[in-house]
Amino acid sequence: MRLSERPLIARTEIDECVKRLARDIAARYQDGEGLVLVIVLKGATMFAADLMRCLDVHPLRIEYIRAKSYDGTDSVGEVELIVLPDLSVAGQRVLVVEDILDTGRTTTAILKTIEGARPASLELCTLLDKPSRRVVPVEAQYVGFSIDDHFVVGYGLDYREEYRSLPEIFVLDPSND
Ligand code: IMP
Ligand code: MG
Repeated sequence: MRLSERPLIARTEIDECVKRLARDIAARYQDGEGLVLVIVLKGATMFAADLMRCLDVHPLRIEYIRAKSYDGTDSVGEVELIVLPDLSVAGQRVLVVEDILDTGRTTTAILKTIEGARPASLELCTLLDKPSRRVVPVEAQYVGFSIDDHFVVGYGLDYREEYRSLPEIFVLDPSND
């Protein structure tokens, strides 16, 4: 396993992108009716922390959901969701914040679970999108970067729980040791 020498997405690009997404989201939710951000653990934590710091939407509530579907660089197909007890969003507007849309299985399971809690509306924001990998059709209303089929780490994204704390996004080459 080897990290790319240079980041695929550098710090300045991430900062610009987060600002753009925050502007787009605020334009939709700036009416004072509030929003619940449902942040998907663990991968979206760094992105969500940056995003909410510049998100001018009030009142803003924050909840978390935990999803697990990967073993190394392969999606295992089965999605395990751990919903924290306080996912009561009936009648509220919800925005799910994801790290990456890959096959779409995890996000589909998350959106279904939240739908069951009867929100007033439900949208999706993802930092990264790998459209060529999609198995289940799902689209995000707010997309940071659309990327080719690379396995990426850093800025919250992991390979076997490593690399999440890197401040930029790198490609991990599984063929190199
Ligand atoms: P999906 O269910 O296949 O869409 O997978 C989504 C989840 O897989 C994400 O929330 C990530 O945790 C993980 N994942 C997918 N692609 C990558 C990647 O390139 N790097 C790190 N994690 C990834
Ligand atoms: Mg992961």
